[in-house]
Amino acid sequence: MQIAVVGTGYVGLVTGVCLSDIGHHVICVDIDEQKVERMRKGISPIYEPGLEELMVKNYEAGRLNFTTEHNKAFKDADVIYIAVGTPQQEDGTADLRFVEQVAIDIAENLQKDAIVITKSTVPVGTNEKVKRIILEHIKADVKVEVASNPEFLREGSAVSDTFNGDRIVIGTESEEAANTLEELYKPFGIPVFKTDIRSAEMIKYASNAFLATKISFINEISNLCEKLGANVGDVAQGMGMDDRIGNKFLQAGIGYGGSCFPKDTNALVQIASFVEHEFNLLKSVIQVNNEQQRLLMKKAKERFGSLKGMKIALLGLAFKPNTDDMREAASIILSEELVKEGAEVIAYDPISMDNAKKLLPEQVQYAGSAEEAVKRADVVFIVTEWNEVKEITFTDYENWLEIPVIFDGRNCYSLEEARKHRVEYHSIGRRSIYPD
Ligand code: UDX
Repeated sequence: MQIAVVGTGYVGLVTGVCLSDIGHHVICVDIDEQKVERMRKGISPIYEPGLEELMVKNYEAGRLNFTTEHNKAFKDADVIYIAVGTPQQEDGTADLRFVEQVAIDIAENLQKDAIVITKSTVPVGTNEKVKRIILEHIKADVKVEVASNPEFLREGSAVSDTFNGDRIVIGTESEEAANTLEELYKPFGIPVFKTDIRSAEMIKYASNAFLATKISFINEISNLCEKLGANVGDVAQGMGMDDRIGNKFLQAGIGYGGSCFPKDTNALVQIASFVEHEFNLLKSVIQVNNEQQRLLMKKAKERFGSLKGMKIALLGLAFKPNTDDMREAASIILSEELVKEGAEVIAYDPISMDNAKKLLPEQVQYAGSAEEAVKRADVVFIVTEWNEVKEITFTDYENWLEIPVIFDGRNCYSLEEARKHRVEYHSIGRRSIYPD
C-alpha cells in the first residue's frame, strides 16, 4: 500500500519506518527541511535503538522516503497517518492545532480515496472533528474515511514494540476500512482489536491512565512500606504472582515521567471535567506522582536538615533509561528544588546531557562521567537506572567517596549487598542501611 505519515517525531517516524520494513511504500512528511535532509542522509532525529539502521535499509531499498511537500505525499496515498504533536496546554488539555492543520492540508491535496488515521493521542471525538474539517475543505471528488489507531509503543524500545506489540487497536466508521487496516498490519502478526472510533480513542487514554495508576499505587505502597518496615520489592513480587494483578509496572521509584503519562493523565482529567465528571482517582494518581518525583530531596532533607552548600550528584537525567528524552523527567524538578535549597548539583547522563542543559537550572554543573560526578559530590542521587549507573558497585562508591551516602530513586541494589559495604544507602520502600 502507499502510505503517507505526517510528523516524524517518535510515533510518526517509528510507524513509517516499520511499515516500510513490512513492505509498504511509505513517505514521511515533515515541515522541518533540515530534519528531512538529515533523514535522507540516514541520520535519525531521535535516539531510538535499532531505528536508524532500519531507516537506512528501507530508504536504500526505495520503500521509504522523506519530504516537506504535502501534496507530493498525499497524491497517491491509500492511507495517511497523522502523527503530529498534541502538546499539553496550560489547562491540561491537548493542543490540537497541528492535527487540525494537517486535516486541512490533506483535504486540499487529496486526489484519490483514502483512509486518514490519527496516531497522535487525541481527545475522544477528535477523529470526528478531523472528518468534519476534511469534508469542509476537500477539493477533489474522493471518498475519505477517518480511523483511530492509537499508538502504544514505549520510548527506548519503540521499534521492537512495533514488531511485537500486544495488540493493534483500530477504530473505524466502516467495516471495510477496518478490514483494509487489518490487512495493512497483517505482516506484523499482532492481534487486531476492531472497535468504533470513540472507543479506540478512549482505549489509549484509559490504558495510559491505568498504567500510571499502577505506578502511583505501588509508590504509595512503598511509602507505607518504609513506615511499617516492609520491603516494597518483595511486596510487588508477591502481588504480581497473582495473574489478575500481573507483575509488570509495579516497580516503585521516583514516579513516572516522559511524553505520555503526565500529559495523558492530565488530559483525561480535563476530558472528564468537560462532561462534568470528577475523575478523583486519576487526580490522586497525578498528585502522588508529583510528590514522588521530589522524594529523594525530601529524604535528604530529613537526613541532613539543610542541604545548603551540599554537593549532590544526580546520576541519570532522562525520564527513563535508553532514551535521550527529558520530558517531565524527575531530574528537572529535583535539580530546580535542590538549587533553590542552596545545594550544588553535579549532573550526569550517558545520552541526554545536551537536552538536559536546555532544561535544568543554569546553576547545575555537568560531569563527563558518572565517576567524575560522584567524586565531585558529598551525596549521590540515583535518578535514572541506566546500565552505566547500575554497574557502579558499592566498592566503587567506597573508593570514590570518603563516606558514601546514596539515595537510590530506582532501587538499583539489593539491601543484602548494601549491608556488606561501608555505605549509607537509602532507597524506595525499603529500610535504610547505615554503615556499622
Ligand atoms: C508509555 C507507555 O508504556 C506506552 O504504552 C505509551 O504509548 C506511551 O507511554 P513511555 O513513556 O515510553 O511509554 O515509557 P514507559 O516505559 O512506559 O515508562 C514511563 C515512566 O514510568 C518512566 O518514567 C518509568 O521510569 C516509570 N515507571 C514504569 C515506573 O516508575 N515504574 C514502573 O513499574 C514502570
